[in-house]
Amino acid sequence: MLKGKKILIGVSSGIAIYKVLSLISSLRKLGADVEVIMTESATKFINPITFETMSDNIVYTDMWVHPDKVLHIDITNDVDLFLVAPATANTVAKVAAGIADNLLTTAILASKAPVAFAISTNTNMLLNPITQRNIEFLQGLGYDFIDSNEGQLACNTVGKGRMAEPNEIIEYIEYKLTEKDLLGKNILVTSGPTKTKLDPVRFLTNNSSGKMGYALAKAARNRGANVSLVQGAVKTPELYMVNNIHVETNQDMLDSIDKEFDNLDALIMAAAPVDYEFVNTSNSKIKKSDQNVNFELTKSIDILKYFGQKKDKQYLIGFAAETDDLIENAQGKLKNKNLDLIVANDVSKEGAGFNYDTNIVTLITSKENTSLDIMTKDELANKILDEMVKNVL
Ligand SMILES: Cc1cc2nc3c(=O)[nH]c(=O)nc-3n(C[C@H](O)[C@H](O)[C@H](O)COP(=O)(O)O)c2cc1C
Repeated sequence: MLKGKKILIGVSSGIAIYKVLSLISSLRKLGADVEVIMTESATKFINPITFETMSDNIVYTDMWVHPDKVLHIDITNDVDLFLVAPATANTVAKVAAGIADNLLTTAILASKAPVAFAISTNTNMLLNPITQRNIEFLQGLGYDFIDSNEGQLACNTVGKGRMAEPNEIIEYIEYKLTEKDLLGKNILVTSGPTKTKLDPVRFLTNNSSGKMGYALAKAARNRGANVSLVQGAVKTPELYMVNNIHVETNQDMLDSIDKEFDNLDALIMAAAPVDYEFVNTSNSKIKKSDQNVNFELTKSIDILKYFGQKKDKQYLIGFAAETDDLIENAQGKLKNKNLDLIVANDVSKEGAGFNYDTNIVTLITSKENTSLDIMTKDELANKILDEMVKNVL
């Protein structure tokens, strides 16, 4: 996702410095090239050799040791994002005052790349009006601040100031560095299974993990869309800058979509709603007995079909998980349900469908079929959005 991107990390001397090692590891796995500058105080926490090993690049700490080049200028060349993590109150204050007395603050002042601070401070230091003034001033100039979390701090107090976790920082970076070709578009994505309730402890549901819908919502958000993610009975983390909605039944899912449908540019139905529902639901737990029992099931509302009939301007994407006659069945569904695009996957294949992090699909429209190789659900989400953009949006 970050292939070809160069990220310069300015490490100052906050206690959250240890998290930056795993952040660098994750960024490199996503394909980014990472360079590191450390303040002198930061080297008292962790030796630069650790950052050199993790980034596979030389770590710079001093402006004066490389007379052959103007390091503070050269190091910011070709940088896509300059991230200061952890950002101490001290370094933030120096930048706000225009002070350039070490390699990090000088490089920030010289940087043409966007600069973001992942702040890490004790709560009192953070809430001190001086720090607050510095943050607001820099935000006003267009510097980004990745909000800190509330929690247990190193100084044995509980409060705000814990640096954002590496996965949260990566979400920010991916958002920041993605081209905004869906800016202003309203997109609703559904994900995960729905449930039908038999009694207070028993349900009928399915094995959908919600990963595909989650990846689609994240990709659409990164590309600038206003995204709602209607999640069924699945526990994926809340997505930052997304309207996260949780539902259980098909009717709840349909109602949540219906509220937004008229304003949508696209509806992407990656959820796996149940096909049948219990006719009778008991409010108390049904007692176990020695007898066999039969529970009557009735066909559930077909959410995709409902919106296929209702749609006018909305681009409608459905999924077909099949084990036999994949293409014919998916083409039938595309037509019957009035879809614009169907993502057909053969769930009998290794690496495809529920619970895998990868998928193998064919994208089918009324005009063409495009078979794709195995890829991660994040990569596939972008391919699906590319197909949608190519066709209409
Ligand atoms: C154990 C320890 C932990 C510290 N943690 C933080 C921190 O999380 N945030 C912060 O703003 N300062 C923290 N400080 C204070 C900074 O290290 C100090 O203000 C330093 O001068 C900042 O220098 P720098 O911004 O050049 O790295 C800590 C200091 C110590 C000794």
